[in-house]
Amino acid sequence: MKFFIDTANLEDIAQAESLGVLDGVTTNPSLMAKEEIRGQQNIFNHYKKICDIVNGDVSAEVIATDFEGMVKEGEALAALSPQIVIKMPVISEGIKACKYFSDKGIKTNVTLVFSSGQALMAAKAGATYVSPFLARLDDISADGLGLIAEIRKIYNNYGYKTQILAASIRSTMHVINCAKIGSDVMTGPLSAIEGLLNHPLTDSGLSKFLEDHNRNTSKF
Ligand code: E4P
Repeated sequence: MKFFIDTANLEDIAQAESLGVLDGVTTNPSLMAKEEIRGQQNIFNHYKKICDIVNGDVSAEVIATDFEGMVKEGEALAALSPQIVIKMPVISEGIKACKYFSDKGIKTNVTLVFSSGQALMAAKAGATYVSPFLARLDDISADGLGLIAEIRKIYNNYGYKTQILAASIRSTMHVINCAKIGSDVMTGPLSAIEGLLNHPLTDSGLSKFLEDHNRNTSKF
């Protein structure tokens, strides 16, 4: 399973990268705004900084909602680095843009996916990644995990190469559950990644090992 971090915060990205387990980064317009990055040049510079930190794919989302606008923005973003993945919403113009970029060999991430029909359209358009939003479905008492399992089955049925990028991950259990049903990638906050290491028996076991070692006269 690939681990992406879902943030535009450079410190969090650097912290996740330092663990040596990070495969990429996803951003969205809300995450960019949270870092107070405004203006095209600043946005481009910020993406370049992210690409310098992480050795992997970096999803950059287009703002335009029409095909021509998405192509213009996407081409400018793709020119920043081969690491850039063009992220577009799963609307008809987004599907057209996805097909356009896929045909040119530029990586794509079709986002805001809440149904298996949308995921099927993304795969047909040759998307590199499809992003079903797990927690946003759970938030409205729908079955986010069930959706990802359904997409997995559909993609397996036809051998689609589009990678399922489980998005809107908020907890370590989301990560585990997505891994169990075969998501190719998960994207979540730093806490969901680092949290996978937490276990009280590891903490107490380590304390005891160190305590016993320190009682021993033959120190390291
Ligand atoms: C997907 O790529 C989005 O950036 C993200 O995962 C949305 O997560 P949220 O529901 O926590 O905002």
